[in-house]
Amino acid sequence: MFLVLGATGHVGGEVARQLHQRGEAVRALVRDPAKAKAKLPDGVDVVQGDLERPDTLKAAMADVTAVFLVNRMREIGAGVKVLADAGRLVFLSSASVIDDVAEQANFIGQAHAVVEDAIRASGTRWTFLRPGGFATNTLGWAPQIRGSDVLEGAYGDQAQPLIHEADIAAVAVRALTEDGHDGARHLLSGPAPISQADQVAAIGAALGRPLRWVEISPDEQRRRLAKVMPPGILDVYLSGLASSSPATGVVETITGEPGRTFAQWAADHVADFR
Ligand SMILES: NC(=O)c1ccc[n+]([C@@H]2O[C@H](COP(=O)([O-])OP(=O)(O)OC[C@H]3O[C@@H](n4cnc5c(N)ncnc54)[C@H](OP(=O)(O)O)[C@@H]3O)[C@@H](O)[C@H]2O)c1
Repeated sequence: MFLVLGATGHVGGEVARQLHQRGEAVRALVRDPAKAKAKLPDGVDVVQGDLERPDTLKAAMADVTAVFLVNRMREIGAGVKVLADAGRLVFLSSASVIDDVAEQANFIGQAHAVVEDAIRASGTRWTFLRPGGFATNTLGWAPQIRGSDVLEGAYGDQAQPLIHEADIAAVAVRALTEDGHDGARHLLSGPAPISQADQVAAIGAALGRPLRWVEISPDEQRRRLAKVMPPGILDVYLSGLASSSPATGVVETITGEPGRTFAQWAADHVADFR
């Protein structure tokens, strides 16, 4: 039995669906069972629990041999101890984590490094998935795109290899079900960098509407994002937008598939922008 956390979310939902599709027994531990049942295939066992309340995890652990863990940057040391009883834990961490440093460079790296440390200390076999930017981050553009053919933002030329949640899940499923991933820290990305301006164009192509990027100043972008993002995350997010980075190729190494393009992601999510 595989226990999946975050199954009402993007990555955990895909992990639960892909495991189920392979015919594996899957249990989803969720805070809201009704929400989960609406999103997950019949046959996935849905149990109520809360990662921040370790007593609620114990009942979900019966017959579990591996756990997929998603944590929204909260303190979950006690929960990790319970989940580690499964013997194998695959954790959705972040490319922000830096190994072998006394202090992480930013808030996001720190929040995930603390959980990685707790998992290492638990004695379970572990695999850390460390993706860079998610394609789902562009869902934040949906309100602008619904109301206009113009998308305003800073750093339109900077290109990131945004990753499709289904590709993170595909790697997670390998790490949960196959040997050879113990102690691995998989640095994951999409198949190729794509500029923000081209991301917007790809969403437009999926919608069948020409969308246009309009550059605004970094200060203006910061002012707008500050209304919806906590300061620690805002700084990391903006510095990510301000730089380009290459693809890692790790999804293809592990799954044998190059990974889904941003255009594919936009086609899969076209309803989210309507
Ligand atoms: N965005 C990026 O570019 C990026 C890059 C690298 C790493 N990451 C990491 O990826 C993770 C987010 O993955 P995602 O996009 O799949 O998340 P998501 O779609 O936001 O879903 C989060 C899931 O966690 C569940 N959850 C939250 N608090 C919980 C609790 N106390 N107990 C049990 N379940 C709880 C949510 O359940 P409810 O439905 O009940 O809320 C939801 O299912 C974060 O750790 C983030 O730091 C993100």
